[in-house]
Amino acid sequence: MSELKIVSGRSNPDLAKKIADSAQLSLSPVTIRNFSDGEIWVKYEENVRGVDLFIVQSTHAPSENLMELLILIDAAKRASAKRITAVVPYFAYARQDRKDQPRVSITAKLVANLLTEAGADRIITMDLHTPQIQGFFDIPLDHLYASPVFVAALRNEELSNVAVASPDVGSIKTARSYGKRINADLIVVDKRRPAHNVAEVMNIIGEVAGKDVVIVDDLIDTGSTFVKCAEALKAAGAKKIIGVCTHPVFSGNSIEKIECSTAIHKVFVTDTIPCHWDSSKIIVHSVAELLGEAILRTHNSESISSLFEEIIR
Ligand code: R5P
Repeated sequence: MSELKIVSGRSNPDLAKKIADSAQLSLSPVTIRNFSDGEIWVKYEENVRGVDLFIVQSTHAPSENLMELLILIDAAKRASAKRITAVVPYFAYARQDRKDQPRVSITAKLVANLLTEAGADRIITMDLHTPQIQGFFDIPLDHLYASPVFVAALRNEELSNVAVASPDVGSIKTARSYGKRINADLIVVDKRRPAHNVAEVMNIIGEVAGKDVVIVDDLIDTGSTFVKCAEALKAAGAKKIIGVCTHPVFSGNSIEKIECSTAIHKVFVTDTIPCHWDSSKIIVHSVAELLGEAILRTHNSESISSLFEEIIR
């Protein structure tokens, strides 16, 4: 069997280190530098010929993170790695996944093409904006879920008469699956976007009054969706409101918005994107162990789906 190696780009080195630790490996050395104009230069510092190589790099802003991943893949291919797996804990550009108006790009497909063309043989990623993005790839893709980590955290919370809320139609299936696991009802919030990064709540479907509500979403960006949703649920009579949102994109003043909203009790996020904020309400749960285990199972040709069956008890 070929040797397993894990390397990290510069977008989330803490997570990459934790992933390697959980797989009981060290990160393989790679030098990444910028020329004075910003162009990225990459060199693997040890032999990767014939290696089963896993490159850990989230692709949140700036777009250099994506470019760096492409260059890491290209360098590995040219160094004759046997198999290259791009481990992309946060897959950015996924929200543009269809032509919802004329003359726009489908960036999710574009990024899938770029990764494949650069030389990736497989992808491991987590909580894609929509699961259908898997179909944009003609190489194997393992789609992991942060839900085992969040469900365990929710079970440690004092919650009663619980409902799970989907902040838009896109998250209904995910919310329903959380509901099954924590024995909660389903609420659907009918969200509209009058403009980019602006969210409005139109209607709430389901019983809210007197319930502790868990809002499930793949990410928080500007915080508009999450805060508006929490405030509408509070106004409809919800008691404690907790968010479980996998990717902490947190642009602009989103953290301040969450801190200031009296409707929000707390928010659980993961470390797919580096976490450098100071907030009493936002709690990070690491997905390093899940990713580490997925890497080991991929290397050993073992089932990934059973990983989730085992953890979700
Ligand atoms: C939308 O479909 C996503 O699932 C998130 O709800 C959305 O992208 C969050 O963005 P923001 O925080 O800017 O409202």
